[in-house]
Amino acid sequence: MATDPRELYQQVIIEHNKKPRNFGKLDTHTHHADGHNPLCGDQLQLTLNVVDGLIEDIKFEGHGCAIDVASASLMTGAVKGKPVAEAETMADQFRSMVRGDLDPATDAHLLGKLTLFKGVKDLPSRVKCAVLPWATLHSALKGEATVSTE
Ligand code: FES
Repeated sequence: MATDPRELYQQVIIEHNKKPRNFGKLDTHTHHADGHNPLCGDQLQLTLNVVDGLIEDIKFEGHGCAIDVASASLMTGAVKGKPVAEAETMADQFRSMVRGDLDPATDAHLLGKLTLFKGVKDLPSRVKCAVLPWATLHSALKGEATVSTE
């Protein structure tokens, strides 16, 4: 495994894009949303089962670039089993990080290995790719069926 953060980031993106975790659709679910990135036309569908305030299961499917797919793969792994409120906090923090408003080195956060995406702030055209899964999660948890990152 690489030790250079940029190399590690590349490896993780490639690996999760090749073998995305939690890919598919939950046949029965309590929440769902369709996310859309109008810049490229890519789409992401999320289905979740929330029981007693906990995200018991979550899956995603759709078409997207490697950053979008890797972000969705890592996000679903990170929020599965977590309370809804914690997942919402992570969504806020992730968005702040990739927009450059949260520095994971100095600011408190719950992001764990999701900080791998911190370099996205220097790639403005990819911010929406990384954020799409989190924006879709936020919409699903709020009961909104569709979201656009525009
Ligand atoms: Fe479409 Fe990244 S280019 S989501």
